[in-house]
Amino acid sequence: MNEDQLLYEGKAKSVFRTSVPGELKVIFRDDITAFNGEKKDTLAGKGEYNARVSAFFFQYLEKNGIPTHFIRMEDERTMVVKELTMIPLEVIARNVAAGSIVKKFPFTEGQLIEPPVIVTDYKSDEHGDPSINDDLILALGFLSADGLRDVREMTLKINKLLKDFFAEAGIQLVDFKIEFGRSGDTIYLGDEISMDSMRLWDEKTGESLDKDVYRFGKGDVLSAYGKVVDKILQTL
Ligand SMILES: Nc1ncnc2c1ncn2[C@@H]1O[C@H](COP(=O)(O)OP(=O)(O)OP(=O)(O)O)[C@@H](O)[C@H]1O
Ligand SMILES: [Mg+2]
Repeated sequence: MNEDQLLYEGKAKSVFRTSVPGELKVIFRDDITAFNGEKKDTLAGKGEYNARVSAFFFQYLEKNGIPTHFIRMEDERTMVVKELTMIPLEVIARNVAAGSIVKKFPFTEGQLIEPPVIVTDYKSDEHGDPSINDDLILALGFLSADGLRDVREMTLKINKLLKDFFAEAGIQLVDFKIEFGRSGDTIYLGDEISMDSMRLWDEKTGESLDKDVYRFGKGDVLSAYGKVVDKILQTL
């Protein structure tokens, strides 16, 4: 009998409480969605690809001094994590202009952003994930001034680590979205780091190896996700 209690079923992951206090299980499902859930599909194997990549990067970042929620993998798509009180922010780091930033600001697609920028959205389906700034984050009590500084520093460090890693694998890290949460006084990196949450371009061909393949019907999503897994394995 499965005694785990479903806490939350999101668009791509399901979160369960286990019998171990302070631990949660996150199951990476095969569901894929885009445009706020308007486009939806199930792609067999997608959950496993994202779980493997996430687990790999959580361990890689942890080794490099970033506190993460990762504890262990239970099976190919089930991650055991430290339970966090999530901070309702989507923290986005951008190295190259693509996606919404090109629509909102006079960047051209593919333009290098150097030094990288961090932008933040309020994670709320109800409010449509609006952009938020530091003053609003402080006013709403989502983070303290110290917390804001820590999140910014961690995000820049994560960006550098991921960018350098992907460069070795022949992939350009265009941008990514991360989420943080608290346990006690510590802020941890939570959620996932996967092809759903990063924009990755093949350095040679320029082809997308991430959820844009799904969003814009650019080809076979699973084979793009699989390429990232293969390239990561090759660099090890
Ligand atoms: N360590 C953690 N402790 C508690 N909650 C977590 C932890 N890591 C991630 N979460 C939360 O678990 C949920 C994962 O679900 P999922 O990513 O599928 O859906 P979503 O974030 O609601 O939607 P979407 O990502 O598609 O916008 C998110 O709400 C995320 O903030
Ligand atoms: Mg999510």
